[in-house]
Amino acid sequence: MATERTFSIIKPDATRRNLTGAITAKLEEAGLRVVASRRIQMTKEQAEGFYGVHKERPFFNDLVSFMISGPVVVQVLEGENAVARNREVMGATNPANAEPGTIRKEFAESIEANSVHGSDSLENAAIEIAFFFKPEEIVG
Ligand code: PPS
Repeated sequence: MATERTFSIIKPDATRRNLTGAITAKLEEAGLRVVASRRIQMTKEQAEGFYGVHKERPFFNDLVSFMISGPVVVQVLEGENAVARNREVMGATNPANAEPGTIRKEFAESIEANSVHGSDSLENAAIEIAFFFKPEEIVG
């Protein structure tokens, strides 16, 4: 098994309900270490850039509006198989389909307000980490 880094966002629905600590605890319990973390207000340009891969999808404008509707916490997580492990503890995109015990099952409100984002591949993790963090801001 390989030590990996993945990228996570605690979304505005979760920061609004003061769930940053509860979600971070779930990540840590899953064996992931927070090696960088910053609370930010995303700009529209940042959200459009970050989600650029989805720009043809019907929900793109809603997704961007939601992601700038309040503060988010951007994080780099490190651990064995971190990409897959994070996806597992996050649960399915739609909380209605998420497994019991997952972050989205416990905390998400809807497919849009689904509390967390996590990279879907090691390749995208590297791109997403570099979108928000300089190498020296990540302390393993
Ligand atoms: S995934 O996780 O990438 O496989 O899921 P996907 O269905 O491709 O969704 C990509 C991101 O879009 C969000 N999403 C939506 N937002 C608003 N409205 C609707 N209907 C909707 N459907 C999907 C979903 O939460 C994913 O966000 P991220 O931040 O990537 O998890």
